[in-house]
Amino acid sequence: MKKLILLLSIFTAVTLSACTADEEPIDNTIDCEQFPTHRDCSDDPDPEPMLCDGLGDACIEEVEELLATLTLEQKAAQMIQAERSSITPGQVETYGIGSILSGGGSHPSAYDNTTDEWFAMYEAYQQAALDADAGIPLLYGIDAVHGNNNLYGATIFPHNIGLGAANDAQLMYDISAATAREMLVTGIQWNFAPALSVVQNIRWGRTYEGFSENPIIHDNLTAQAILGYQDLDVIATAKHYFGDGGTSGGVDQGNSVMLSQDVIDIHMAPYIEAVEAGVDTIMISYSSVNGTKMHGSQYWITEILKEDMGFEGFIISDWNAIHQLPGDFEDQIVLSINAGVDMLMEPYDWEQAMQLIVEAVEGNRIDEERIDDAVRRILQIKHKRGLFDDPFRRLDDSHLYSDDHAALARDAVRKSLVLLENDNDSLPLDKNDTIYLLGPGADNVGYQSGGWTRFWQGTEDADLGVGSSILDAFTEVLAANGGTLVNTVAAADTVVVVLAETPYSEGWGDNDNLTLTGGNAHVGNAAALTIAAQAQAAGKNVVGILISGRPLLLEDHLDHFDSFVAAWLPGTEGGAGIADVLFGDYDFHGTLSFTWPATFEQVGYTSNREDYDEMLVQYPFGYGLTYN
Ligand code: BGC
Ligand code: BGC
Repeated sequence: MKKLILLLSIFTAVTLSACTADEEPIDNTIDCEQFPTHRDCSDDPDPEPMLCDGLGDACIEEVEELLATLTLEQKAAQMIQAERSSITPGQVETYGIGSILSGGGSHPSAYDNTTDEWFAMYEAYQQAALDADAGIPLLYGIDAVHGNNNLYGATIFPHNIGLGAANDAQLMYDISAATAREMLVTGIQWNFAPALSVVQNIRWGRTYEGFSENPIIHDNLTAQAILGYQDLDVIATAKHYFGDGGTSGGVDQGNSVMLSQDVIDIHMAPYIEAVEAGVDTIMISYSSVNGTKMHGSQYWITEILKEDMGFEGFIISDWNAIHQLPGDFEDQIVLSINAGVDMLMEPYDWEQAMQLIVEAVEGNRIDEERIDDAVRRILQIKHKRGLFDDPFRRLDDSHLYSDDHAALARDAVRKSLVLLENDNDSLPLDKNDTIYLLGPGADNVGYQSGGWTRFWQGTEDADLGVGSSILDAFTEVLAANGGTLVNTVAAADTVVVVLAETPYSEGWGDNDNLTLTGGNAHVGNAAALTIAAQAQAAGKNVVGILISGRPLLLEDHLDHFDSFVAAWLPGTEGGAGIADVLFGDYDFHGTLSFTWPATFEQVGYTSNREDYDEMLVQYPFGYGLTYN
């Protein structure tokens, strides 16, 4: 696989250099000084199966030996994941807890948290785990879903919807690897990513976390998204298994009705890719399939995923998700563990959960064999990823928002933009043009980045410490080329209107009003659209840019624009990347990975349907213009 990736990167480098002069491909080779225990860093031409790579005999034996020494209490503790805000290092040491997470925005310090603060926190928990009687290193998990987005000053990459539009496997690999490095500057080695949701209904607040409505895009990106992390021994999580993107009406955590094999295939396809790629962990979906909560489904978790598909890693439950199962807390624990969940994400109730696992085994409600299977899987992944050899592995700060990572993110923005309209050669813009740039998305890196940025629900703060807004980037280009920014329609030749959604995540983004002025859309869009109409009436060149987590209904507003660009949630390098393409240094490349509906009634009508009619919708799946 390594070779293939190398070949791919050479191939991309060659094709890239054809269109862009001086681009250096990102170097993804392993630095053996930083990763002495990595399997590629051994002098031995035929090294022993190391760190359970491929789960070789040596590792299996070591894990079995360790497992045999553990008490039931210690095993139960390995199956627990607690939230950092509700557990102390002292408690980790008392019980020998298996894992800790930071939920969205759960920083070690209030706001501009530093890598040293993160590492000190990590180190204290890890040392406590090693000091516990069992002495087993813990795993620390985080949602680094578009870069290490909880960390102040990290490179924020476009959210997955933009990467689906770019649909570039090498780019995907490089972004995962860059994210892994920006995680490792804090010591953290487990990422709850990638989301493999095959989103059928864009009213869902998690639409932007998915690559596409059509698994053909997942087919291209899934393995690379996983390998980019795991080649650096950062644990990936395929989530949320399965059908999270198929709920009726696009309701977060809702029910997916899967009456036919076709429908199952759409949502299952990426997991087949993920298991083949050797993904370490899989997170179960809050949602139900045909009325059964996934967290309680032995059929889907054990029979299909573990037995039929041969998944050898471990299963993690979602945040508090088992609390949605029937019965009392012990019933919920029994149901989920017997269904095949190996580790419980119990942010707050972890202590009780741990005790109830023990009681359920003592009460013969869970076989100890099931517990052994769960702990074995967890220990094997800990081995495989080098935790027993180097639990304090850390990369130095030079990787945080490095020039390479910022350049990669900027390239990802260029490739993810989709040109929807371009009448009268509205684009590209002249660098010496006189431009009025306005709208709520024009000068806000927080909006550009969307949910899961700094905080769970994202931030309206325009300053993320790094990156540039569209205004910053336009100012720079125009200043260098004799162009000007002005503040009125009358004074401008070109009017650029940047519309935005405000940040949201999960159910907070579920919404039945997908217009440019309702639901999660920024209230300032209405005034900006009025100015677009005035500019058009005055005969100006009117350019629209939409910063959003999904297609929004453009309605008649579209008539007021000469050109219109879907920019998705491009992240910290959004400004620079958008300017690169709008001023014509790069061509458009992205195509829609989602159908763009013309009316709300069309929401849910996707390219997976046999009767899909491209003519019915505003823009079909796969659509995207270029300059050429
Ligand atoms: C989300 C997961 C996430 C977890 C931990 C849940 O609410 O559904 O995607 O990994 O929280 O933050
Ligand atoms: C956490 C998220 C989590 C969510 C679930 C939030 O408080 O920060 O990580 O996904 O709760 O409701």
